[in-house]
Amino acid sequence: MSKNAVEVTGVTRIYTDVHGNPLEALRDINLTVNEGEFVSIIGSSGCGKTTLLRLIAGLDRPQAGTLTLNGEIIEKPSPERGYVFQQHGLFPWLTVEKNIAAGLKARRIYRQHKGDVSEYLNLVGLEGFERSYPHQISGGMAQRAAIARSLINRPAVLLLDEPMGALDSFTRADLQDKLLEIWKANGTTMILVTHDVDEAIYLSDRIVIMTPRPGKISEELIVDFPHPRHRGGVEFLNLRRVILEKLHLASARPQPEYTI
Ligand SMILES: Nc1ncnc2c1ncn2[C@@H]1O[C@H](COP(=O)(O)OP(=O)(O)O)[C@@H](O)[C@H]1O
Ligand SMILES: [Mg+2]
Repeated sequence: MSKNAVEVTGVTRIYTDVHGNPLEALRDINLTVNEGEFVSIIGSSGCGKTTLLRLIAGLDRPQAGTLTLNGEIIEKPSPERGYVFQQHGLFPWLTVEKNIAAGLKARRIYRQHKGDVSEYLNLVGLEGFERSYPHQISGGMAQRAAIARSLINRPAVLLLDEPMGALDSFTRADLQDKLLEIWKANGTTMILVTHDVDEAIYLSDRIVIMTPRPGKISEELIVDFPHPRHRGGVEFLNLRRVILEKLHLASARPQPEYTI
């Protein structure tokens, strides 16, 4: 049996809204992600997906509950938990190569691992763009560089917060394939936040559906058909229909009653 990589137990996160009232972004979240698993989190805007990912990253702390990675409590950010944002967040003043090397330099291990830079550059298909600056490459390429910048730290888990959200559909499909290729090659545990149902089905072992106010996990679905998955295939389309129905039900609110 595989090890549990990430374990989220009874996690609640309450923010304060602009009026000073409590805003329950997450209520009693329980989630286990196994080592090497690819899990997608899907749900409408504002249901707490980013909040959950930030907690797993150690960028924030919950009011209640615990989060662990390989049994160790998550208290602060660590290169063990890579984070890729919707906007790539590359350093604009550094070349692609130097962006990818940034983590190694910060940890003062660049000298020993110099060779890794070209390895990870190749892994994401950016050979030939070593000396380019972020503004000189496309959005899809910048996201690949951001993924390489995280992966070079050999994280146990890669957290991806809608990394393909800002890309056109061709670039998006291309990056999805690249992500699958990397996942198969490296076996990194992946947790992907997306609002794209097709993307979740195409990539994941398991899909977690969240519902808002308060943010909760409403459903977990296993995707057990083999890769490569065909977006027009019967299994794909059936699962797509099931998920869309669940998301639709999740967002349906009781109609307000009016008395005149
Ligand atoms: N720092 C914050 N302070 C107050 N409210 C926040 C903060 N961050 C997020 N929220 C609120 O918490 C809820 C969940 O947000 P978020 O996790 O960003 O959702 P998602 O990523 O699913 O769109 C939203 O209602 C959002 O407005
Ligand atoms: Mg978000």
